[in-house]
Amino acid sequence: MTTTGHGAYGGSVVDDDLWARRSSAFGAAAREYAEHRPGYAPAALDWLLEGAGRDVHDVLDLAAGTGKLCGALDPAMLAELGRRVPSARRLVGRAEAVPLADDSVDVVAVGTAWHWFDTDRARAEVRRVLRPGGVLGLVYALDRTDVPWVAEVGRLALTSVSTTPPDPDAPFDLTGWEGWELEERRFDHVHRRTADSLTAMFGTQSHTMVVSPEERAETLARVRAFLASQPETAEGEFDLPMQTWVARLRPPG
Ligand SMILES: C[S@@+](CC[C@H](N)C(=O)[O-])C[C@H]1O[C@@H](n2cnc3c(N)ncnc32)[C@H](O)[C@@H]1O
Repeated sequence: MTTTGHGAYGGSVVDDDLWARRSSAFGAAAREYAEHRPGYAPAALDWLLEGAGRDVHDVLDLAAGTGKLCGALDPAMLAELGRRVPSARRLVGRAEAVPLADDSVDVVAVGTAWHWFDTDRARAEVRRVLRPGGVLGLVYALDRTDVPWVAEVGRLALTSVSTTPPDPDAPFDLTGWEGWELEERRFDHVHRRTADSLTAMFGTQSHTMVVSPEERAETLARVRAFLASQPETAEGEFDLPMQTWVARLRPPG
């Protein structure tokens, strides 16, 4: 067993085999992922595209999953993307070996996925496919842990394989990005949820997907009971406060 720190989750040292299982767990719940995972603040994606120092014709949504940010890695996620964004050209590949020619895109956008990659190899691939003046955008949906009930439900959703989530105050580990130009911004938004649909959202997170069925059921039951006990979330629809964090990164010279 080897252990490594992983990208935005760089503070956590985790078993590489478990990490690989978690990174490929999503396809088993592609439809639920598309339905329950939050999207990103539209203003955040506008800001990302504005960051390209050139006209934007071609955008690579790397690790596109079900297409929340606009590729994809596994067939179930890819099929869901085709359903949601039929105009996108979909390619099966990996961030470490992107199936595109050199200098072929103006923007590479990566939504909630950089931490799954072999980051040195993925960074080299991004440099290879970006046209001169192009920009890489790392996009994450961060939990608003400054809101007490949001912090508590996140804590209750942890399982035996959970790692430390990105620190909302410092989500990005700059190790390995020396020479890249970095700009960061945050955009508040909300995700309309019910107690059931927010519980289902936690069920699409990899740390609840790779544990035993018993542990998964206990975790989701704990989350559901907590939501039923809180005035903000007990009845009907409510806003889950969220934040989209974007880093615009330009490669050295
Ligand atoms: C949390 S999902 C994010 C999906 C989408 N970008 C979004 O914002 O909803 C992570 C995605 O990363 C993909 N993935 C994991 N490891 C990868 C790798 N090495 N190369 C490319 N994609 C990978 C998974 O298949 C999954 O679609």
